[in-house]
Amino acid sequence: MIVASNFKMNHTRASTRSYLEQVSRHLEGLSSDIDVMVFAPASCWDHYNLPANLRLGAQNGYPAARGSLTGEHGLEQMREFGISTILLGHSERRHFFGEDQALIAKKVAFYASEGFRIVYCIGEPLEVRKRGEEALHRYLLEQLEGIDIGYANLIIAYEPVWAIGTGVSATPEEIASTHAFLATVVGRTPLLYGGSVNLCGLEDILRLPHVDGVLVGTASWKAEDFCMMLTIASKLYQGEVNGDEGKKGPYYRCGQ
Ligand code: PGA
Repeated sequence: MIVASNFKMNHTRASTRSYLEQVSRHLEGLSSDIDVMVFAPASCWDHYNLPANLRLGAQNGYPAARGSLTGEHGLEQMREFGISTILLGHSERRHFFGEDQALIAKKVAFYASEGFRIVYCIGEPLEVRKRGEEALHRYLLEQLEGIDIGYANLIIAYEPVWAIGTGVSATPEEIASTHAFLATVVGRTPLLYGGSVNLCGLEDILRLPHVDGVLVGTASWKAEDFCMMLTIASKLYQGEVNGDEGKKGPYYRCGQ
């Protein structure tokens, strides 16, 4: 089960250090089957002492090792900090910074050729969802154009644009049906859900078929909240492994 935090443009290097220390300590008490990623701004990268199941990742990257590309960072800057995990295609990059599919596909191909673990984001704006299932599926397929879905280190995050940072997550039904469709397209590639995931909704989302984990923004920025999410994911995973669903959960009561 995968639980990832996207800091976006939040945290400093100092606060990232204490965040990662807290999460690392917390992970010592949990099953190591929880696979954790923290996507931090480049200014927060450093040499941290992390457990094997906690990885620091980049939120973006230019598809080159180095170059005359003011304001960008690339492979060399990541390698210096041992970073080999990257988030690509995030809707904020697509919509606020105008990254098109061709550029994003180039980034995915470049970082895949370097063996990176890639969390690749796709998701539709509200007007597309309103047009119905066929339009939705077509839109998502366009965002997979040029992406090698057979790449072994690829993870796909379905994040509807209208759910990101709005406090309104997609419903479990919406997530279940979109993930069921995506599973038919991407086969065994792990699928995450992202978009206003919070402690209250986390458990229901993680229990859905074809949901292998979550990518969390706002609700993950406080270390203690993120740690609680890891606890929930870990208990859920253990419940799944041990069977006996009747006795398992809920592990978190909303409003707690
Ligand atoms: P959110 O962000 O949880 O704040 O909606 C998710 C994301 O953008 O990855």
